[in-house]
Amino acid sequence: MKKIIMLMVAMLYVVATNAKTLVAYYSYTNNVERIVAELRSQIEVDVMEIEPAQKGLDYAANNYALGTQLLNAIKANPNDASSYPAIDPVEVNMDDYDMVIIAVPLWWSQMAAPFQTFLFQYGQQMAGKNIGVIVSSASSDISGVVADAKRLIPKGNFIEPNLWIRSSQTSHATSLIADWLNDIHYNSITSSVTSVQDNVNFELKSTEGILNVNGDFEKLSIYNLSGDKVIETSNSQVNTSSLTPGIYVTQISSETYSVTRKISIR
Ligand SMILES: Cc1cc2nc3c(=O)[nH]c(=O)nc-3n(C[C@H](O)[C@H](O)[C@H](O)COP(=O)(O)O)c2cc1C
Repeated sequence: MKKIIMLMVAMLYVVATNAKTLVAYYSYTNNVERIVAELRSQIEVDVMEIEPAQKGLDYAANNYALGTQLLNAIKANPNDASSYPAIDPVEVNMDDYDMVIIAVPLWWSQMAAPFQTFLFQYGQQMAGKNIGVIVSSASSDISGVVADAKRLIPKGNFIEPNLWIRSSQTSHATSLIADWLNDIHYNSITSSVTSVQDNVNFELKSTEGILNVNGDFEKLSIYNLSGDKVIETSNSQVNTSSLTPGIYVTQISSETYSVTRKISIR
């Protein structure tokens, strides 16, 4: 039986502000909308939908004539605000967010025009933020959409890989998103620490594959050294017998603090 051999009293506590994530999306035929619904069921995020100001337009009619026209106007004068189709006003304070996930359809190998308007207006304010990119297309490769994102968010910290979900894969979004969040180490990149203070005592003790936590807390998370969360619980007795022996990082947190300690499982 694996055992955690450890007795530890944490004398410091770390005040953490949970990093917040914004998901901004546009969807014409609802594939991206379904993807975003799945995403928000897996992680805690604020969600904002971008909507064209002019309602009822058919971007796909006449062999996508209107969609093509909008994109051509942007291409001709990408630095001119009047090249971009009007969208409903959005109110967002980018200071509230450390990460922005953009989710958008591909149109003619480019980013759908209404979403380009949003990024033209707000992309500069996303400087230094982590940017995740999710693109839905019928079949075309998404590199042109990623290039549009990088043009419109010139100082974004783009997190690789991007997530490409073909229209036909929309019903598999659950597992595709879960894998992607894992691939980008979402939990690690969105955890942040702001200050360290004294005088909170936590005792972690082990007996036969059970980790006992002594102290008030709301959540205990255990991460492996790749940053993947392997256990999350609010119980003060945690069954760790399923973990492969090795070093792990334990984070015990409440709304106002977080204690982080290494543990060794043998
Ligand atoms: C104007 C327009 C142009 C499109 N161009 C392409 C294309 O070049 N290649 C492709 O694979 N899909 C193309 N599509 C299909 C969309 O990318 C795909 O259906 C996507 O899933 C739509 O997302 P949504 O349902 O959220 O709007 C186009 C769709 C529209 C409306």
